[in-house]
Amino acid sequence: MVRDPTRSCCVVTGVAGFVGSHLAERLLALGYHVVGVDNFSSGYPKNMASFFDHPAFLFHERSVCEAGLLADLRSCHTGLDLVCFFHLAAIVSVPYSLDHPEETMEVNLGATTALLREAEGLDSTAFVFAGSAAEYGNDERLPLIEEYAGEDTVHVSPYGRAKFLASRAVAASPHGVALRCFNIYGPRQDPGSPYSGVISRFADKAAAGEALTIFGDGQQTRDFIYVSDVVEAYIHAAGLARSASAVPNGIYNVGTGKGTSVLELAQIVIELTGNRKPITFLPERPGDIRLSVASVAAFQKTAGWRPTISLADGLRRTLGSVTSSTRERAAG
Ligand code: UD1
Repeated sequence: MVRDPTRSCCVVTGVAGFVGSHLAERLLALGYHVVGVDNFSSGYPKNMASFFDHPAFLFHERSVCEAGLLADLRSCHTGLDLVCFFHLAAIVSVPYSLDHPEETMEVNLGATTALLREAEGLDSTAFVFAGSAAEYGNDERLPLIEEYAGEDTVHVSPYGRAKFLASRAVAASPHGVALRCFNIYGPRQDPGSPYSGVISRFADKAAAGEALTIFGDGQQTRDFIYVSDVVEAYIHAAGLARSASAVPNGIYNVGTGKGTSVLELAQIVIELTGNRKPITFLPERPGDIRLSVASVAAFQKTAGWRPTISLADGLRRTLGSVTSSTRERAAG
């Protein structure tokens, strides 16, 4: 069934984050009303700058741990059908989760199940959850298929464990879909911490004319997926894509199905930016996974979704956005 977006609204938690802000932007472009929730624990107001004043966007600075959040949001937005609850808000830092395991469980698992129960009370509302490749722990069977993550999986962090349990709870709900996203990259990804995604760090260093740093020999692989492909995966999962019907409840990988080594990635970034600095090799990061690549057959078959942005194109767009924000910083 194709919905009338002008009478429909979607809730996006984590709307000031990297992926949440891109998702909100796209939903608004499709004509939906968007109710955004964020407490700025890791997101930034600047991520919402392009749509904050959009007439169909309303922002609530609130925590997803607040009891009765969904009912409150509903009462503020009567007259619209709530068609999907996109739950992306989370503690996103793995090192933080190691230092704060209880808080991580409360936010990433406890709040998710509480919101899920609330959403179940609203009959037609899809619930789409941001799972993670971390749910697979250090599994070496490649490509990773959804069934590999199970009770026996040894999770490397409370982050991975909480995401695994939350995805399982979401998938057991009639309208619940958990998307296990692999290594997402694109504009607005925060390059600021040593644990930021490798592409945001490479882009930032290249823009500043500094040497790229590789931990280990660079032969470790990751499945890098561009943020707009991930956003389309969310839209498909919610049954909001024009060409598709609702996706059956379950857990689905979202990646490209292709592994790229970190060295290969560094070489592409160097070629695209003309950075002449030799790469700095540092010792391998403790706990680093060696090889990671997703099987995306299940989601492709069920949802009719497929990634469309090549790594070179995605890198061009990411590097372009970093260069322009560096220029803006320098100018003002
Ligand atoms: C991601 C998470 C990590 C989590 C893991 C679990 C992010 C940013 N990181 O790590 O917290 O434990 O999933 O599945 O989401 N690298 C470099 N140079 C750099 C930065 C990184 O060589 O400047 C390397 C890393 O050592 C790693 C690879 O690049 O081998 C990818 O790193 P990263 O982007 O952090 O992603 P994951 O390792 O997959």
